[in-house]
Amino acid sequence: MRRKAAQTRSLLIKQLANGEFNSGELLGEIVGVSRSAVANHIKYLMDIGLDVFSVKGRGYKLAAPLLLLDQNRIVQRLGQEQKNRVEVMSVIDSTNAYVKERLHELPQGFVCLAEAQTHGRGRRGKTWVSPYGSSIYMSMAWTFTGGYQSMAGLSLLVGIAINRSLKTIGVTDCKLKWPNDVYYNLKKLAGILVEVEGQVGSDASAVIGIGINIDLPSSVTGIDQPFIDLVSIIQKPVDRNELAALIIATLTNMLIQFEVEGLTPFLSEWKDADLFYNEYVYLESGSNRIHGLSKGINEGGALLLENAGKVTPHHGGEISVRRA
Ligand code: BTN
Repeated sequence: MRRKAAQTRSLLIKQLANGEFNSGELLGEIVGVSRSAVANHIKYLMDIGLDVFSVKGRGYKLAAPLLLLDQNRIVQRLGQEQKNRVEVMSVIDSTNAYVKERLHELPQGFVCLAEAQTHGRGRRGKTWVSPYGSSIYMSMAWTFTGGYQSMAGLSLLVGIAINRSLKTIGVTDCKLKWPNDVYYNLKKLAGILVEVEGQVGSDASAVIGIGINIDLPSSVTGIDQPFIDLVSIIQKPVDRNELAALIIATLTNMLIQFEVEGLTPFLSEWKDADLFYNEYVYLESGSNRIHGLSKGINEGGALLLENAGKVTPHHGGEISVRRA
């Protein structure tokens, strides 16, 4: 029953994707349900963030045409041998949760993408607001044969990979905020959530979750910090399939190198994009709060803070700029 509803909604969205008006009657005929069922499905889609509206006598219309995620188009760019490594879902609770549950049966580098998440996970237990069709929500599975210790700095590597991909499409001014946020003009553009599973001394697996704001609806609510989306930056439509494929390819290559060489080859790239380099910052971790001059990161991904001429590495917490 639920599957049927999901299929009906996918068909409705496909029909609306070109941004034209469609009457409830026509939509009902196309997807094989009544007009009132169409209205209920559209209400659900609005609730999960699809920017769709209705005009009496004309029907339903998306605020803007929507280029949907498409597994074939992503695989075309990555190479057909990656076909079993990419899965595109419509609505899911969380791509991280999906990959985490299946971590041990998935091939190395498997990626799940979704159009919307009903329980998108952010860092520190927060929710990642995930409206339909307006962002990239993706999670990659990666197992490290070197165990936990070979993962040091992984989340920073992911930020560098996103920044590198954005540079490739011409967005050159992004900044990286330790440990793993991508910023543009002091507003958050992308977030990373790495979840790790494994035991000390054996293989360890990571779920690498990436959320990138692409074209958020103007009505979006619930984001508790300044944010920006990619379309506002580049002022033209973004093909999420192209960008997702670029990030998957970039990150995969970087992970292969990272497993052998660690974070060291990527440190200069981090420094070039470091949001707070040489600024006085606060570092908060639980009830602990310290401050110091930010001196970038070390090869383990730790934040380096200078105090009274002494530089010390710090592994956890959130940083913010120190106000006098
Ligand atoms: C942050 O708080 O900055 C991290 C946000 C990470 C969001 C992404 S969206 C895809 C993946 N699935 C999730 O549930 N979360 C991550």
